[in-house]
Amino acid sequence: MTKPKSLLDGIGNQNVTEKYYDDWATNYDITLKKWKYKAPLKAVSVLLNIRKKFDYCLDLACGTGMFGEEIKKQFKNITVDGCDISADSLKFAKQKKIYRKLFKNSFEKKINFSYQYDLVSLIGSMTYCKKPKVLFSLVNKYLKKKGIFIFTHRIDLWQKQNFDKLIEEFNKFFTIEYRSRPLNYLPKNRDFSDKVKIRIIVLKKI
Ligand SMILES: C[S@@+](CC[C@H](N)C(=O)[O-])C[C@H]1O[C@@H](n2cnc3c(N)ncnc32)[C@H](O)[C@@H]1O
Repeated sequence: MTKPKSLLDGIGNQNVTEKYYDDWATNYDITLKKWKYKAPLKAVSVLLNIRKKFDYCLDLACGTGMFGEEIKKQFKNITVDGCDISADSLKFAKQKKIYRKLFKNSFEKKINFSYQYDLVSLIGSMTYCKKPKVLFSLVNKYLKKKGIFIFTHRIDLWQKQNFDKLIEEFNKFFTIEYRSRPLNYLPKNRDFSDKVKIRIIVLKKI
C-alpha cells in the first residue's frame, strides 16, 4: 500500500486522499477550527462584494460542508449541491442539512446531472487537482453564462504549476473578476503557519 504523505505534500493518489479524509471526517471541523482555517469565510466575503444574489451553487470538494455553512449564512435563499470523493466527509455534510444533493464524485470527472449553476466553488482543495485543465473544462460546462467560479489555491503551488498560464489558456471561457493578495491558510498549523499562503480567485464565465 502507498504510504499516505502529509497534508503539506498533498497526501497522495486519489485512493490515499479519499481514505485520509474518510479517517479524518469525524474530527475535521474541530481540527480546522483549531488551525484557524478561514478560507470558506473569506471566500464568502469576496462573493458578497461581487453579487447580491446567487441561486444555485455547486460546491466541489465540499468535504464536511464548511463552505456550505458559510455561504448559507450570507446568501439565505441559495440552493447548494456538493461533491466529494470522501463518503465519510459527505455523511457529515449531509447531517448539516445545507446541501440539496451530495454526489460522491471526483471533481475531475463529469458529475451525472443536468443542472446548471451560477456559482461553482472549490475551497481548500485545488492542491488535489491533478488535471486542472479537465477541471476548468468541467466547471465551464456546469456554469450558466456569466456564472462565477471561485477557488483558492496555495501560492507555492500556483507558481509551481503556472496557474497564470493556465488561466490565460482559458481566457476564451473565463475573465478574471477578482484575485486576492496572499492570505493566511492554516495559521495555527505548524507546517503551514505563515509559510504557506493561499490566493482566492474569482473567474466569470463569458
Ligand atoms: C481540505 S478539504 C476542504 C473541504 C472543504 N471544501 C472545506 O473548505 O472545508 C479537501 C477536500 O477535498 C476532497 N478531495 C480531494 N480530492 C478530490 C477529488 N479529486 N474530487 C473531489 N474531492 C476531492 C477531500 O476528500 C476533502 O474533503
